[in-house]
Amino acid sequence: MILYDGVVGFVRVNKHPGHDWLDLLVVDPSSQDGVGSQVLRVILGEAKERNVPLWLSVYLTNPARRLYARFGFAERPRDEIRMQMVYPASAIDQPPTC
Ligand SMILES: CC(C)(COP(=O)(O)OP(=O)(O)OC[C@H]1O[C@@H](n2cnc3c(N)ncnc32)[C@H](O)[C@@H]1OP(=O)(O)O)[C@@H](O)C(=O)NCCC(=O)NCCS
Repeated sequence: MILYDGVVGFVRVNKHPGHDWLDLLVVDPSSQDGVGSQVLRVILGEAKERNVPLWLSVYLTNPARRLYARFGFAERPRDEIRMQMVYPASAIDQPPTC
């Protein structure tokens, strides 16, 4: 749960031996004003501490791609409708197998 004067969203990160996977990030529309970036900073910090890249999957049409790009994520096509994105960008050629 993302708590900010009450529950404003949900985040779930699956931790694997060689990478973290951002499985869910959603913020209530009434609280979408920088909260997503704050949460992203925290989970990127955790991945950095573990010395692993953070991967996620996002629909091509999702405006969240801009948010991830601003943080320096790199992207590669996953299928016809989704992109995989990773931080740091240097991990782009080692996509997760699970
Ligand atoms: C993605 C999300 C968590 C960002 O939270 P936020 O508090 O708005 O984040 P910030 O204010 O720090 O960043 C704003 C950026 O979020 C993204 N964003 C804004 N509205 C969005 C929406 N309805 N859906 C997806 N992303 C959105 C844009 O990239 C925006 O950047 P821009 O100003 O260049 O357009 C939030 O918009 C959301 O919950 N969206 C719906 C669920 C979703 O798409 N999650 C991501 C799945 S990979």
